[in-house]
Amino acid sequence: MAIGILLVGGFGTRLKPLTNQTPKPMLPIGGLPVTEHQLLAAKKAGINTVILATSYLSEVFIPYFGDGSKWGMKLLYAVEKEPLGTGGAIRNAAAMVGFSQSSEDFVIFNGDVLSKHDIAAQLDFHKANSADATLHLIEVADARAFGCVPTDSVGRVTDFLEKMDNPITNDINAGCYVFSPSVISEIPEGKVISIERETFPQLVKSGRPVYGYREQSYWLDIGTPAALFRGSRDFVAGDFMAGVGTKIASDCIITGGSSIGAGSSIGTGSVITNSIVGDGVFIGDNCTITDSFILHNCQIASGTEIIGKYISPTENLPISTQ
Ligand code: GDD
Ligand code: MG
Repeated sequence: MAIGILLVGGFGTRLKPLTNQTPKPMLPIGGLPVTEHQLLAAKKAGINTVILATSYLSEVFIPYFGDGSKWGMKLLYAVEKEPLGTGGAIRNAAAMVGFSQSSEDFVIFNGDVLSKHDIAAQLDFHKANSADATLHLIEVADARAFGCVPTDSVGRVTDFLEKMDNPITNDINAGCYVFSPSVISEIPEGKVISIERETFPQLVKSGRPVYGYREQSYWLDIGTPAALFRGSRDFVAGDFMAGVGTKIASDCIITGGSSIGAGSSIGTGSVITNSIVGDGVFIGDNCTITDSFILHNCQIASGTEIIGKYISPTENLPISTQ
């Protein structure tokens, strides 16, 4: 069965300050890290071995995910001392499972994407075309911030144009690729390589079979605070949700698709609107929390008003969730 690689080593610059202490893929959606949602999607497609390609704040992943047995999966960790770029990270991670002898396909996931597309169908499409690489494509209204990927009438990719001002199609790279192992062995080892700016354009130019699997299901890159909050609200799909063991006083008003983690406590008279609250957070009485992100293990004193803020145990900084 295919082997998964999760690209989780980026700096999450556009999400700052939310990524000051938390790597982007460990930010919570509905109380679970983005990575956990992706692992569950991979498992559903029959992918049981996944390598996490980590770099920035790599030490945060292992205590949470361990060897993967809690999810019935086998998880491995490839750590880049300095980020190797998306291509270098894939090459480095695949080397952990001896890809040169492998006959297994690899499924690569950008680590900041929530997608409900059918990964097993994408793998079948890859095999049916005897492709070298197969990219999940999705149509968006504005393609400028993404990899623009035109295809021909049978779905063959004809170009790959990363982030352009005048996109030639609205079909974009949705950040989930199937690679045949032979292609991975062609990525130079130990070098900083961009899969988007180097590998894909080269494969297409040299006439290799690269295909686009087009599926228009729920899809979101959570790479900005506004997108993360949208993803969280989409997941909650109602006034609010709260994790196991969280105690909420009966007169609290929690709305706007807020998400409260596990083992937290919210005191009497508090009002929480469009906010993300982590695990083990203590919120006192009569607090107002609006458009804010409260990291795990924070203590908020009674009567505090927090509007448009990122709060961690050591930080208090403004954010915009719009
Ligand atoms: N291990 C590792 N090492 N991971 C990395 C590195 C690295 O050096 N650089 C980036 N990543 C990870 C990020 O953590 C993220 O999960 C993923 O690679 C993609 O990087 P982003 O920084 O989020 O890229 P983007 O959103 O601007 O563009 C990418 O995603 C779009 C879809 O959301 C591209 O793949 C676009 O082509 C695509 O359309
Ligand atoms: Mg991204």
